[in-house]
Amino acid sequence: MAKIISFCSQKGGVGKTSITTHVATYYYQVEGIPVTVFDCDYPQHSLNSIRESEIQRLKSDESYYKKAERLGKMPYPIYSDSLINTLPKLDSFNKKNELVLVDLPGTLNVDGFPGMVKRLDAAILLIEADPISFESTMHTVLAMASFDNKNGGMVPTYLLWNKYDIRVREDRYANLEQAAITYLEGLNKDRKTPINVKFLKYRIPQSVNIQDYRSTLIPHRTIEPLVHELNKTLVSNS
Ligand SMILES: Nc1ncnc2c1ncn2[C@@H]1O[C@H](COP(=O)(O)OP(=O)(O)OP(=O)(O)O)[C@@H](O)[C@H]1O
Ligand SMILES: [Mg+2]
Repeated sequence: MAKIISFCSQKGGVGKTSITTHVATYYYQVEGIPVTVFDCDYPQHSLNSIRESEIQRLKSDESYYKKAERLGKMPYPIYSDSLINTLPKLDSFNKKNELVLVDLPGTLNVDGFPGMVKRLDAAILLIEADPISFESTMHTVLAMASFDNKNGGMVPTYLLWNKYDIRVREDRYANLEQAAITYLEGLNKDRKTPINVKFLKYRIPQSVNIQDYRSTLIPHRTIEPLVHELNKTLVSNS
């Protein structure tokens, strides 16, 4: 069974495209798992643009070409289309044993979004430690809870800190996590189907490395602990 996962958020610039790219490349190149990426962030299609600029770089930068060649594999496919056109394509992955990552637009108010949530095996909501990001993530959680997943309930949803600032006191993050859990538990008292979200333990650091070495070809070690955690929580858990 394919695993269909999306890193998403209703707030722009939290790292959806960057983390999707890093995770896809790491799984494909290091974990050796077949990967397909759907770039549904119409009309930006920035994930596809990363691939296109890398193709240009392969032509002009010999050492980059050699580095990519040493990996010994054709790059994983990236398909760019609108979200609504992508839905039937996702269905054709039902029988494949692949990891499918979907880069979504920064809004849920787009044609086909409920159909997308129905098909996801997990939604990973990226969150930053600022009040606007926090509030917008809580709204996204509520929106996710309003759509039915293929399993009948809420799509399995995880929260993942991105741009984690190690200079900030650890208890700021712990307090925000507690505030989110308390808020959602409060809502659950009045709900028939509870909202169920978990924070992933790994926090992706704010790092120039993550910005500069974003690649659809060459894997980056910074993402390794996240992939190991995803392996335990989602990917191998079929
Ligand atoms: N962990 C990180 N450390 C440093 N910079 C990061 C990190 N994650 C993302 N960025 C940077 O943040 C900016 C926004 O990232 P990205 O484009 O991936 O976000 P997005 O959520 O896909 O944005 P959009 O809503 O426009 O699609 C980029 O400059 C990216 O390099
Ligand atoms: Mg993006």
